[in-house]
Amino acid sequence: MKNIVILISGGGSNMAAIVRTARQDGWRQRYGAQVAAVISNKDSAGGLAFAREQGIATEVVDHKQHATREAFDAQLAAAIDSHQPALVVLAGFMRILTPGFVERYAGRLLNIHPSLLPAFPGLHTHQRAIDAGCKLAGATVHQVTAELDHGPILAQAAVPVLAGDTADTLAARVLSQEHLVYPRAIADLLSKI
Ligand code: GRF
Repeated sequence: MKNIVILISGGGSNMAAIVRTARQDGWRQRYGAQVAAVISNKDSAGGLAFAREQGIATEVVDHKQHATREAFDAQLAAAIDSHQPALVVLAGFMRILTPGFVERYAGRLLNIHPSLLPAFPGLHTHQRAIDAGCKLAGATVHQVTAELDHGPILAQAAVPVLAGDTADTLAARVLSQEHLVYPRAIADLLSKI
């Protein structure tokens, strides 16, 4: 079985979209794949309850309980590795990862970023797109490399920036596309590994 481990920090709507798509599209039969675990760095992450309801193993590895990034990443890696993952999927996981962690999962570590990379890496992407006068915004699924929000692009989805958009209205439009493009990109990868 190709195990997928999803890392979240918050609401987990991308994680939920992946779980729902996996079930609806029969990833188990089609790709021999399953979402094996959802791991959060915050016990308050809303997505944990959804994962539990779905019967998926959940775990919290609290970054505040670790003195260094390296110590946190080591604990996180141990939690991930207990599920022998084929893919590690970052879905709103708001921690910067150490190069050692990224190296450990090289080629099987994915992220979604809410901009059309290479534009607007980092935070506040929607406001920055509005401020720059962009007519298109969107989201990018990419392989994770040591440099934040870089790495080979696997898929993108674009949406229009509309007159009167705020960061919130644009974020909502982008997020609805994230829920489509991320599961699709993962399924595409699963069909090849
Ligand atoms: C998404 O916009 C994702 O692209 C970004 O953080 C947000 C997470 O949303 N990295 P959710 O937790 O998946 O609902």
